[in-house]
This record gives sequence, structure tokens and C-alpha cells, in this order.
Amino acid sequence: MASYLFLCLFRFFPHLYASFSSSASHSCSSLAQFKNSFSINQTKFAALYCDHIAGLKSYPKTNSWKEGTDCCSWDGVTCDHLNAHVIALDLSCCWLHDNFPSNTTLFLLPHLQKLNLAYNDFNLSKIPSEFGGFTSLFYLNLSHTGFAGQVPSQVSHLSKLVSLDISSSIYDYEKFTIDKHALEGLVHNLSEVRHLFLDGMDMSSVNAHVFMNLSSSLRSLSLAYCDLQGKFPKNIFDLPNLNLLNLGSNPILSLDPLKLNRRSNLEHLDLSSMSFSTEFIDSVDNLQALKYLDLSGHFFSQRLSVSKTKSGYLFTGDANFFGGLPGSMGNLVSLKFLDLSYSNLSGTVPRSLGNLLQLTHLDLSGNQFSGQIPSSILNLTQLEYLKISENSLEGSIPDEGLKVWKA
Ligand SMILES: *[C@@H]1O[C@H](CO)[C@@H](O)[C@H](O)[C@H]1NC(C)=O
Ligand SMILES: *[C@@H]1O[C@H](CO)[C@@H](O)[C@H](O)[C@H]1NC(C)=O
Ligand SMILES: *[C@@H]1O[C@H](CO)[C@@H](O)[C@H](O)[C@H]1NC(C)=O
Ligand SMILES: *[C@@H]1O[C@H](CO)[C@@H](O)[C@H](O)[C@H]1NC(C)=O
Ligand SMILES: *[C@@H]1O[C@H](CO)[C@@H](O)[C@H](O)[C@H]1NC(C)=O
Ligand SMILES: *[C@@H]1O[C@H](CO)[C@@H](O)[C@H](O)[C@H]1NC(C)=O
Ligand SMILES: *[C@@H]1O[C@H](CO)[C@@H](O)[C@H](O)[C@H]1NC(C)=O
Ligand SMILES: *[C@@H]1O[C@H](CO)[C@@H](O)[C@H](O)[C@H]1NC(C)=O
Repeated sequence: MASYLFLCLFRFFPHLYASFSSSASHSCSSLAQFKNSFSINQTKFAALYCDHIAGLKSYPKTNSWKEGTDCCSWDGVTCDHLNAHVIALDLSCCWLHDNFPSNTTLFLLPHLQKLNLAYNDFNLSKIPSEFGGFTSLFYLNLSHTGFAGQVPSQVSHLSKLVSLDISSSIYDYEKFTIDKHALEGLVHNLSEVRHLFLDGMDMSSVNAHVFMNLSSSLRSLSLAYCDLQGKFPKNIFDLPNLNLLNLGSNPILSLDPLKLNRRSNLEHLDLSSMSFSTEFIDSVDNLQALKYLDLSGHFFSQRLSVSKTKSGYLFTGDANFFGGLPGSMGNLVSLKFLDLSYSNLSGTVPRSLGNLLQLTHLDLSGNQFSGQIPSSILNLTQLEYLKISENSLEGSIPDEGLKVWKA
């Protein structure tokens, strides 16, 4: 019935069909030209991340694209079937290699809503400012692409973005840089954003204060290895939907003592290798949801303690004591991942860690723990990784007790 209706429409209004098919074939030739501007060869990013780390099989997706056929059926291409606009393009992990032309025909696809070019290798090209013209985009993923240089401020024109990933890592060639103006634009204009991954971007010219007014829609914020400085605004913990926060490996970034009064949905908290000068976390209530906690690489100058309150858990930095790990750590029973390595912690390893029955990863190495290794650790049957070396601990963990990698 529907197709009959279409046939009738096209029969009586032939110009409709003409515009329908020409918009489709324009899109198809734009896509084909885009593909032809690259050589297709397994790239370092595809081999390292997709195949080995992320477990996403990389393959040359565009090799199956046959020019002259309807591109809406091509691998990685999604069209809006009503008017044949290309609305989504997923070319992640598909071996595109070469400089990214700033006049690429990709920019002739103005209806794109979703674009993923992650893990290709654009050979240190700059991100063209024309990306700012994709005003319908709500998903943009340019992570690990070998793009480099300054992130164009036009990216902040993409005000519909719900997810933006421009992360890179120390294994990529070169860091992106972003200036204050562009970052302010992102924070200000991306009012719908839920997932913001900017790891590895050089933000050394920006004070962390710029993250003051992030969208209340935010669920994930990842800013590892960004060379951030100053104090990170602690109102980040007021965002009602925040689920993941990674500020790790920003050695001169600090965080004020925290006070969280609202229920927190935080599941993933990485505050490793930051700088907490005098106090750590004063109080963080309501962390029942916490599954991943990385506080490694700190030299706490104060005692850390965790206590259960009516409303949740309380982390306190007590100025009168140094260095111990409190038994109350055993209250965070949802934890799956706990890394406290190289944090200058001393005293005994609390027996209560044996209460964290969900733990799959426990790292206490590189501290000054002494005394017996608590036998309660044997109750952690989910453990896959346990590292307790570089301490002054006595005793050992019997091999048959745990099916884990020990070091
Ligand atoms: C693919 O990469 C390999 C190794 O880098 C190189 O030897 C080969 O010539 C490349 N092939 C093409 C088609 O570019
Ligand atoms: C990468 O860029 C360099 C310098 O800009 C150029 O010489 C080289 O041909 C490019 N390689 C590829 C595969 O695009
Ligand atoms: C892009 O510019 C280059 C030269 O700068 C030119 O050779 C190429 O044809 C242009 N491509 C398109 C699609 O306009
Ligand atoms: C970006 O794409 C890669 C590869 O598909 C994926 O692993 C990653 O999770 C994506 N990032 C976001 C924020 O969706
Ligand atoms: C916000 O986006 C609009 C266009 O959507 C742009 O004109 C404006 O400059 C952007 N603001 C900032 C601060 O980047
Ligand atoms: C955040 O918003 C408040 C109130 O709207 C404003 O006074 C302040 O200047 C903003 N701060 C930043 C860093 O944008
Ligand atoms: C490590 O902890 C000890 C007390 O346990 C303290 O005296 C020392 O200053 C700490 N080291 C650093 C680098 O903070
Ligand atoms: C292991 O758990 C059981 C039951 O929860 C408890 O009775 C026992 O004392 C625990 N073992 C150790 C070594 O903590």
C-alpha cells in the first residue's frame, strides 16, 4: 500500500521523484569521492585499539562500496528512508589512511546526524572548521584518528551534540590543543551534551575553572591527560546524572574538599595522579553506586577515611593522622575496581576489604602497608587481578585460593 502510494505520487508528480533520486545520488557520489580520497590499509590505530584493546574487529568497510549502487545499502551508511538523506555514517576502525582534505565531499552531506570516524589515520591533518557546519549532528566521534593541531572553535556550533568524543591517548602521534575560547564555546553551547570525552587534549593554556557551567544533562566527562591546571569546579558533583568522571593524570590539577548532599549516580570515579595539596576528599555522601574507584598515584598527606552515614558514605581527610586505609573502605560494597597503588598508604590492610565481594581488580601495590595479608581476601572470589607487591606485607596468598593474576 505504501509503495503503491509512492508510485502514484511519482507518477503524478514526476518532479518529486527527480528530487528524491537526485538527492540520493548526490549523496552517493559524495560518499564515493570521500572514500576515494584515502588509501585503505590497516592503520596503527585499527591494529592497536580496535583489534587488540577494544575487541572491535577492524576491516576495510569501504571496500564493499560499489559505485553506481544505492549507497543507502552500503556498509556503515544509514539513510532516512523518506527522502534518502544520508543521516548516519559509521566508518570507525575501517583503515582509512591519508591526509583529510579540508574540501572533502563529506561536507556535502548536511543531514548527517551521526558521524563516527574513530580509529582511522588522518596523518596529522587538522580538523577542518567545516565540521562546524554539520548542524544536525548529535553524535560525533573523532577519537584516535591521527587528527592533530588546534581544535577549531566551530565545533562549538554543534549545539545539538549529545555525544562528543575527540579523545586521544599517549600512543597517538601528537596532542590536540584547544584554547580557552573554543573550550568556553563547548561548555556554553553544548547544552544537550551527555557524553564528553576529551582525553589527551592539551588544555595547558586553560584554567579548569572553564568547566564551571557544564550542562546538567551530562553523564560522562573524561579529561584524562589534559594538562589541566587550577582547581576543578566542585559543582561537577552537583550534576544530577553524572555517572562517569575521569580527571586522572592531570598532575597539577587539584580538587577542593568535596561535599555532596544529593544522591549521586556516580559509578566510575578516576582521580588518579592528580594533586591534592592539603586535603583529600572531605565528604562524599551517597556513593552506593560506585563500581570503579581509582585513587592511585597520590601521596595523601592526610588520613583518608570512609564512614557510613544515614545518607550514604563519608570520605574524610583527617588532619591529625597520616597514611592509613580505614576499615570503612569495606562499606563500598558495589566496587568492582579499586586501585590505591602508589599512594603512600601505610598501616595494615583492613580485613574489611574482604567485604567487597564484587571486586575483580584490586591494586594496593607501591605503598607502605605492613603486617599480615588479611585472609579475608580469600573471600573475593570474583578477583581477576590482585597486586600487593612493593609493600612490607607478611604472609602469602595460597595459589589455590584465588584464580587470579598475582604480582
Ligand atoms: C600497506 O602498508 C604496508 C605496511 O605499512 C605497506 O607495505 C603497503 O605497501 C601498504 N599498502 C598500500 C596499498 O598502501
Ligand atoms: C602523511 O603526511 C606526510 C607529510 O605531510 C606526507 O609526506 C605523507 O605522504 C603522508 N602519508 C600518507 C599516507 O598520507
Ligand atoms: C580539493 O582541493 C584539491 C586541491 O587543493 C583539489 O585537487 C580537489 O579536486 C578538491 N576536491 C574537491 C572535492 O573539491
Ligand atoms: C567512539 O568510537 C569508538 C569506536 O567505535 C568507540 O569505542 C567509542 O566508545 C566511541 N565513543 C563514544 C563516546 O561513543
Ligand atoms: C554557539 O553557537 C552559535 C551557532 O550555533 C555560534 O554562533 C556561537 O558563536 C557559539 N558560541 C560560542 C561561545 O562558541
Ligand atoms: C557560570 O554561570 C554563572 C551564572 O550564570 C556566571 O556568573 C559565571 O560567570 C559562569 N562561569 C563561567 C566560568 O562560565
Ligand atoms: C608519606 O607518608 C608519611 C607518613 O606516613 C609522611 O610523613 C610523608 O610526608 C608522606 N610522603 C609524601 C611524599 O607525602
Ligand atoms: C568469608 O566469608 C564468610 C561468610 O561470609 C565468613 O564467615 C568468613 O569469616 C570469611 N572468611 C574470611 C577469611 O574472612
